[in-house]
Amino acid sequence: MSPFLLTRTLPEDATEAALRADVQQGLTNSPKTLPPKWFYDAHGSDLFEQITELPEYYPTRAEREILVARAAEIAVATGARTLVELGSGSSEKTRYLLDALTGLHTYVPVDVSDSALTQAGHALIAERPGLNVHALIADFTVALELPDTPGPRLVAFLGGTIGNLLPDERAVFLAAVRALLSPGDALLLGTDLVKDEQVLVRAYDDAAGVTAAFNKNVLAVVNRELGADFDPGAFDHVALWDAGNEWIEMRLRSRTAQTVKIPSLDLAVDFAAGEELRTEVSAKFRKEGVRAELASAGLELSHWWTDGEGRFALSLSTVG
Ligand SMILES: C[S@@+](CC[C@H](N)C(=O)[O-])C[C@H]1O[C@@H](n2cnc3c(N)ncnc32)[C@H](O)[C@@H]1O
Repeated sequence: MSPFLLTRTLPEDATEAALRADVQQGLTNSPKTLPPKWFYDAHGSDLFEQITELPEYYPTRAEREILVARAAEIAVATGARTLVELGSGSSEKTRYLLDALTGLHTYVPVDVSDSALTQAGHALIAERPGLNVHALIADFTVALELPDTPGPRLVAFLGGTIGNLLPDERAVFLAAVRALLSPGDALLLGTDLVKDEQVLVRAYDDAAGVTAAFNKNVLAVVNRELGADFDPGAFDHVALWDAGNEWIEMRLRSRTAQTVKIPSLDLAVDFAAGEELRTEVSAKFRKEGVRAELASAGLELSHWWTDGEGRFALSLSTVG
């Protein structure tokens, strides 16, 4: 295998078809919604990287702290020869795993963002000449076909990204991940934990306004890809804690009554003044809930590690 392969598992027009379907459905629903995967064009992926360095955005630092402390233990527990990472982004924290997994044969980063995958893949092979990197441009909510590489396989899903799926989507997703695993394989899952509301809201509504720009970037994506005429300045960024569901919601609130035209869908979308479009949920977890969701998918929690302040957890689970 050449050291860096980039495979698109979906044809390019499938991405556009999926965006069209999501926008058509999401903006004609009440309340209006868009799935968070559309944030991540090249600009959105850059903005996310900036978010990870904000003082308010603790999850990246907390998860990194756990990886620094536990990567060696994860390597011993899994003996992974293939590391598959879902929603890998910049693969920045993954480097702790790559350092620790001394017998690793291939790293398979999977992401919808081809810019993030290309940048990360080239950086990794320059840093680690012996490593095979087989990157997949793919949607991890759609059945994945993984390259034929040696086991044991460790599937990592970091950053708390699982919280962007709704509970029923998580059940389907975890069952699909379980189906990728054979006995001896493992799942390494990063989950942000329930905590003080102020700390949570600030993490999604930073003082510098980077998260607001990230949130509004989805409108720029719809403008560019579907010819819509969203004015991002006509919407306010909103982050709020839903205590019943234990998730943060990011929304875009229309400042005025306005109509947005999306010519390629032959659609005109009316927003009332103050009407909100939900762009992301980010669920926060508790240990017993994570254990139960894994168990429902046929996965058995074997390790649970948190950072020193108990803000974030990494768990390892195996085929039950
Ligand atoms: C919250 S970021 C986390 C990035 C990185 N794992 C980290 O921990 O910093 C989510 C990542 O998942 C990717 N992503 C979001 N939805 C996706 C989907 N449905 N399929 C594949 N990748 C997706 C995004 O492009 C982005 O790189």
